[in-house]
Amino acid sequence: MKRTKRLSVLCGELEACTLFADVGCDHGYCTEYMLKNGLCRRAQISDISAKSLKKAEDLLASYIERGDAVAIVCAGLEKIDRSTDLVLIAGMGGEEIVKILEEGFLPEKLLLQPMKNADKVRAFLLSKGYGICRDYTFFAEGKFYDVIKACKGAPSAYTEDMILFGGDNLISPRADFLKKLEKEIRLNELWLQEAKEGRENILARLRKLRGIYDETCGRLREN
Ligand SMILES: C[S@@+](CC[C@H](N)C(=O)[O-])C[C@H]1O[C@@H](n2cnc3c(N)ncnc32)[C@H](O)[C@@H]1O
Repeated sequence: MKRTKRLSVLCGELEACTLFADVGCDHGYCTEYMLKNGLCRRAQISDISAKSLKKAEDLLASYIERGDAVAIVCAGLEKIDRSTDLVLIAGMGGEEIVKILEEGFLPEKLLLQPMKNADKVRAFLLSKGYGICRDYTFFAEGKFYDVIKACKGAPSAYTEDMILFGGDNLISPRADFLKKLEKEIRLNELWLQEAKEGRENILARLRKLRGIYDETCGRLREN
């Protein structure tokens, strides 16, 4: 795994904290960024797979030796210190992320990058009283990703569409979101051509996507 554009975007969204946890860290590059830039006092790198965690342990060996980082094999937040104030969970499905938070604890700040079902993550965060302060789609290494940053204590007023598509994507869209909409519209048009059943559902989805696309074009022209 290289330090990719996706990882650079995630690192750019990381904030200063006291105790950091990178859950499902694999290579550990984001934790390296936190420690190198003095963004946390201590960091926990964790992964359900000892083999994956070993990569981060090797990368961060000097920090572990000094006691600035600790490596933990565990599922989700199972063995993560409950006083951790910033938790990063990236590169997992949205349902898995929600399960980890439900079964674990709710930290002060979260940086999440679900690979799918981002809407379920947003709905969960809002139901737990989080404010969502960053929530946008970006394109990296040939794929579209969602990044969601949330803080406890300032609940956001999210509409159904914001839950489905991402708050910042609707309020202050970027070109990457427009590209994602274009791709989804093309896909749904193809499915519609081939569909023998479920045409109504595809048509409804297409209507919604085209409506959001038109609004997004308008917003981008304004900005
Ligand atoms: C695709 S990698 C993502 C690695 C890194 N977070 C990133 O964004 O590049 C997913 C990692 O999460 C770990 N993982 C999957 N489910 C997990 C869980 N429930 N708890 C902890 N780690 C998990 C996997 O072992 C794997 O190393």
